[in-house]
Formats: sequence, C-alpha cells, structure tokens
Amino acid sequence: MTLPGPAPRDPIPALRDLLGERLLTSEAVRAQHAENEAWYPAALPDAVARPASTEEVSRLLALCHAAGMPVVAQGARSSLEGHHLAIRGGIALDLTGMDRVLAVHAEDLDAVVQPGVTRETLNAHLRDTGLFFPIDPGANATLGGMAATRASGTTAVRYGTMREAVLALEVVQADGTVIRTGSRARKSATGYDLTHLFVGSEGTLGIITELTLRLFGQPEAQSAAICRFPSVAEAVATVIATIQMGLPIARIELVDAMMVRGFNLHADAGLPEEPHLFVEFHGSERGVAETAALFGEIAADHGGQSFRWSQKPEERRALWSMRHNAHHATRRLRPGARTVSTDVCVPISALAEAVAVAQEEGRARGLMQAIVGHVGDGNFHCGILVDPEDAGEMKRVKEFTDLLSDLALRLGGVVSGEHGIGMGKIGKMEAQHGPALATMRAMKEALDPKGILNPGKLLP
Ligand code: LAC
Ligand code: ZN
Repeated sequence: MTLPGPAPRDPIPALRDLLGERLLTSEAVRAQHAENEAWYPAALPDAVARPASTEEVSRLLALCHAAGMPVVAQGARSSLEGHHLAIRGGIALDLTGMDRVLAVHAEDLDAVVQPGVTRETLNAHLRDTGLFFPIDPGANATLGGMAATRASGTTAVRYGTMREAVLALEVVQADGTVIRTGSRARKSATGYDLTHLFVGSEGTLGIITELTLRLFGQPEAQSAAICRFPSVAEAVATVIATIQMGLPIARIELVDAMMVRGFNLHADAGLPEEPHLFVEFHGSERGVAETAALFGEIAADHGGQSFRWSQKPEERRALWSMRHNAHHATRRLRPGARTVSTDVCVPISALAEAVAVAQEEGRARGLMQAIVGHVGDGNFHCGILVDPEDAGEMKRVKEFTDLLSDLALRLGGVVSGEHGIGMGKIGKMEAQHGPALATMRAMKEALDPKGILNPGKLLP
C-alpha cells in the first residue's frame, strides 16, 4: 500500500515571492496572453510570469514541477496553430523580457541571444557588422519562439530554417535543471543531437533560455522582381523549372489573384488581380543581374508577363513589407472573419498537383481563400476566411484541411512545413509519423514525466 504524499501546494504564493510584481494575475493581463492571431478560442492562463534570467526560469519550473502546474512558454505570440495558448491553464511564461543580445562573434558568424530578442532587433543590432540573420517568417517573432517552432518563411529557400540556424541552446528542463546543448563549432560528432531535439519541440520538452545562432554576410547586391502569370499553374511551373535549374534565388513567393486583391485593399498595391511570383536574388551586382535575366526568360517561357526587377532598396522593402502583411491583408477580404491557414509542404515535383487540388477543392466547398506560398520549398498556405461561429462552414473547412494534409502525405510531403503542430495539426501526427510517434512519446515521458510543459500540444 502506498500512502498518499502531501498534496501539491498552490505554487502561486511561492512564484510571487520569486518574481514579485513580475507575476501578474490581473484579468486584463491574463486576457492579453490568452489571444492568438489565428481562429482558436482564447485560453486564459492562471497567471503570467515575466522572468528576467535563466535562474528565475529554473526556479519557476522547479516550483511548477513540484505542484504539477502547466507552464506554457510565450514570445511574440504570433504563431498560427495555437502553440502558446494555455489551454489547461497554468503559467504563461512570457520570455519577452529576456531580450539581450549577449554576444556577436563577427569573425565566426554567430551570435548569442536571449529568447525574447526578436529577429528585427537582432538585425538592427547587427547593422554595422556587415552580417545579418536571414530567417524571416514575416512576423517580428522572438528568436526563442522561432527556435521552439522551427520557424522558416520567405528566405528558407536560400538560408534554410531554424533547424540550420541554431548552433547551440541553453534549455531549462521541466524540473528546473539547466542544460547546454551544441556549441559554437560548425560540426560535432559527439552523440545525440539534443539541440535539434529542442528546435521544433514547441515548448513541450524544455524552455529555451539562450540561443547561439548562425549569421550570414550581407550580400553585396540584392534585387527583387515581380512577374504576373495567366494562371497559378503557370506560375508554379516557373518555380519548378527555376529550382530544378539550380538558379540561386533568395526568395520565391507565389501569391494568387485573391491574395493580390487583399494586397490592393490593404497596401494599395495597384497590382492586376492575377497570380504573381515575387522573387529576390542575393549575390554580386553582376550575379543578381544575370540571375534576374535568366529568371525572366524562364518566366516568359511559362506565360509570365510584365516582369520587372529592381535593385532599389526602397522598392524591395515595399514589396516584402506588403508580402509580410499577407495574414492581415487576407482578413481585409472578408471583414470580421478569422483565418484558418493551411501549411502543407511537398517535394517540388509535386507542387503543381498540390496547389491545383487546393484550388479546386476549396472552390468546390465554396470556401473563400487566398493562396500564398514559399514555393521554392514546395510549401504553401491557403488562408481560408471563416466565421468560427458558423458550424457548417467550419465543418467544410475541416474536411478541406484534412484532405490537403492527406494529399501532402500521399505526395511524400508533410502536414506542416512552417506553422507547426500546436493544437491545429495534432490529429495528423499519427498519420504523419506512424510508429515513430511512440518514440516521440517516450522522449516526452523521459523529459517531462509530469506533463507540465505545454500540455495538450504537439502529441495527441
Ligand atoms: C506567411 C505566413 C502566414 O507565409 O506563414 O505569410
Ligand atoms: Zn508562411
């Protein structure tokens, strides 16, 4: 017979002793941390904690671990699959206050940062070094959140995703133990790759409190181009040819006619409402001119029209700022609606089929959607405008998103290339991973036996 142990005590008083006024329990602050950019219902945490150091995160976790209190890490809260929502209550661990750039090693092309530094802040900090951090998901996300969700975005086709960008981490484990993974060396053959276990673990295995990131030299020249196409199919054919020819592109983004309408409404873009590719080249002056010309020829072979390219920084900035606001621009198409964003990623040869099915099936279900895609990676999103209160519409959306996920799997792809699992894709983890899901569960059990880290996410 086992005797019952002492009942876990409410950790809030001890957390208040630890953090003082940086532990917030007011309704207004909790409500702010309950929201999301997508369509998920708000989820109120019991309290919001704003730690200032690894030591504080460690002590907080030790207390929550003892009490069995959920802890959900939060950064800019720009994720689209509900990752940061405290759906089982507990502590919203707001890491935005840990926002110092700790070191820049220009000669080694790396930087060490706290998790609350945003990608724009890091780039502003690097401005005079000739270096930059390339990963660009659009939102001014925190680097800790980007690592936790294995973020990518428009530049992944050239610079990779957070998987390639993270060299080393400091992580606080569920019971408060602090570990370091990886190093500043570019190679390592020293056992299990724990760094990349935590990258993309969505706050379910540990809390990232420090990151070492790869940097790149700013290219000598950058040019941006736009080109319109009679159909999405022809734009996608251009992308496939461009990638298969090995043209060095830094970004290649598809936007469909509906998305262009959104840009016209949101940014007064004045573009013809037809499918477009937005492209960027990085390299030498001569290199980018040559690549732009070659790209123009490939596009023309596929019906591309009014191809324009420019090296003017202000034109480039305007183009990407418009693209980055796609999520907000989509909402202008149906005022008051929320967006469900799909995120499949397929091998490039299957991209045309995947996009064609998405268009047809969306239309067949009467869904209003705008398509954007990081198509150089075979990754695209349908931003579906929904009224979450309309049960019939939500059912059709669910059928559609399930169909797209199943199609991606059939084509050798994944149910999320960028946005992650969170709560949205959790039902697809079994189909995606099969028996490997049990291996993931064993890791979760080993690292977070009480299940306090972001419960209800990633693993079904
Ligand atoms: C984008 C975000 C939604 O591509 O991933 O705009
Ligand atoms: Zn995206």
